[in-house]
Amino acid sequence: MCCTCAAFLKEGLFDMEDKGLKSELQDQGYVLLCKAYPKSDLKIIANQFEAVWDQG
Ligand code: FES
Repeated sequence: MCCTCAAFLKEGLFDMEDKGLKSELQDQGYVLLCKAYPKSDLKIIANQFEAVWDQG
């Protein structure tokens, strides 16, 4: 995973195609947009590469 699409989910629901991120990062609210399917309107903070990469 390159993680360039990493974002932080503020509101909404999504399904993730596979385990692209560590479960701890997913639990914190991070998502890989290239692997996610929205299930509602979403509010996200984009450009979270560094936050995810540093913890990955
Ligand atoms: S992980 Fe590379 S674009 Fe999403």
